[in-house]
Amino acid sequence: MVSRKIAPGKARRSIAAAQCNVANVKNLTTTVRGAMLDMARPVSARSEIASNLRFIEDGLLVAQDGLIVYSGPWDSSKVPGAPESVMHFPGKLIVPGFIDTHVHYPQAEMIGAYGEQLLDWLNQYAFPTEQRYADIEYARKMADFFVRELLRNGTTTALVFCTVHPESVDALFETAQRIDMRVIAGKVLMDQNAPDYLLDTAISGYESSKALIEKWHKKGRLLYAITPRFAPTSTDQQLAMAGKLKGEYPDVYVHTHLSENRAEIDWVKDLFPGHDGYLDVYHHHGLTGSRSVFAHCVHLRDHEWKCLSDTESAIAFCPTSNLFLGSGLFPLKKSWERGVRVGMGTDVGAGTSFSMLQTLNEAYKVAQLQNDKLSAFEAFYLATLGGAKSLSLDHLLGNFDVGKEADFIVLDPGATPLLQKRNETCLDLEQRLFALFTLGDDRCIHSTFVNGTLAFEREGKI
Ligand code: GUN
Ligand code: ZN
Repeated sequence: MVSRKIAPGKARRSIAAAQCNVANVKNLTTTVRGAMLDMARPVSARSEIASNLRFIEDGLLVAQDGLIVYSGPWDSSKVPGAPESVMHFPGKLIVPGFIDTHVHYPQAEMIGAYGEQLLDWLNQYAFPTEQRYADIEYARKMADFFVRELLRNGTTTALVFCTVHPESVDALFETAQRIDMRVIAGKVLMDQNAPDYLLDTAISGYESSKALIEKWHKKGRLLYAITPRFAPTSTDQQLAMAGKLKGEYPDVYVHTHLSENRAEIDWVKDLFPGHDGYLDVYHHHGLTGSRSVFAHCVHLRDHEWKCLSDTESAIAFCPTSNLFLGSGLFPLKKSWERGVRVGMGTDVGAGTSFSMLQTLNEAYKVAQLQNDKLSAFEAFYLATLGGAKSLSLDHLLGNFDVGKEADFIVLDPGATPLLQKRNETCLDLEQRLFALFTLGDDRCIHSTFVNGTLAFEREGKI
């Protein structure tokens, strides 16, 4: 039996260098002890959340070869190795790894770009930045940076936009593969209304995506997403080819943007006059379904909510992005009422933080502005098991059930002086959790375990 720690963040080496001798280790056992919080099962109503939370004051989690083999109250007889092999985290909180259901890795370097709403922001900032990813070496460096950012923010699963360049997909999957991280990603499809240097064609987009599916989909923990950027940058032919590809590979994902910004919606109406609204452009080509994730959905019409529900499509709610680009307020309450699955997305680089804690903080405010309340427990659900459910991965991820993949994090609820002070006045778990979401950020991520292995450990004290 081997009990190994790896900590690329600590070693300050590239993930490639740090991990190359670890992915194949067998009989890897990881044993952690501390307070544990997870959700027992996915829910379909807000009212079911609190009663399905599981909190254990002194818990034990044992992972073997990447899977959870025991989770429950501390019991020394369940420790498979020597007592010294137990990693004990008193005063911390062990929770499932966070799930980011919408993020762009080739935008990390232009996060926080000033002054524009969606369409001008794309032209001025996003497109020129994405051009750099034609260079595989640049893409590899940024994939390494991106995955490190995810880990240091406690995110263990992500649904990721790459660029139009197949090399950008290779770079990200190579990096994720080295640490056996569950990543869903795909090559962007764009054959109109973008700079020439970022365009593919309906045929080349189809063929490159198909080759990437063959190369990466279900390789280890990696999954592929067919990724038309959004309706305005794809011709009808390209969307038809995307639908054909989805028909050929029904278990791959579809990942795109939908109804984010008013000017974007008007543009779609002009570009696709024969359709009954924005979503219908995708639906018409077979791009809705239980593995389709639509980012934003801020301004949906009633029949579009119905279509999402009927087709079991999911939404990525991206509050920091929607506020930063002035896009609008996502009606989270409505998604519950209409029975549409929702996960949280950072949407970096229109989103302003990799931190799921900060993303939940902004989600709370978005709800407040609509006279709605996002409870601490609902926020926790959306970032963990609810996110897994929105990605149709809740049978594998999102809580501590035995047999699930051992992606989990250790949160430090007292990482900063302000949090420590605030915690003095918190009366219960719900209040402490809410304070953590409101005041916390990457400083609260004490360590991150991917596939049962320590992949990030925070250094030093604040
Ligand atoms: N719509 C089309 N492309 C993008 C993008 O890169 N970011 C966001 N936020 N919305 C988009
Ligand atoms: Zn996006």
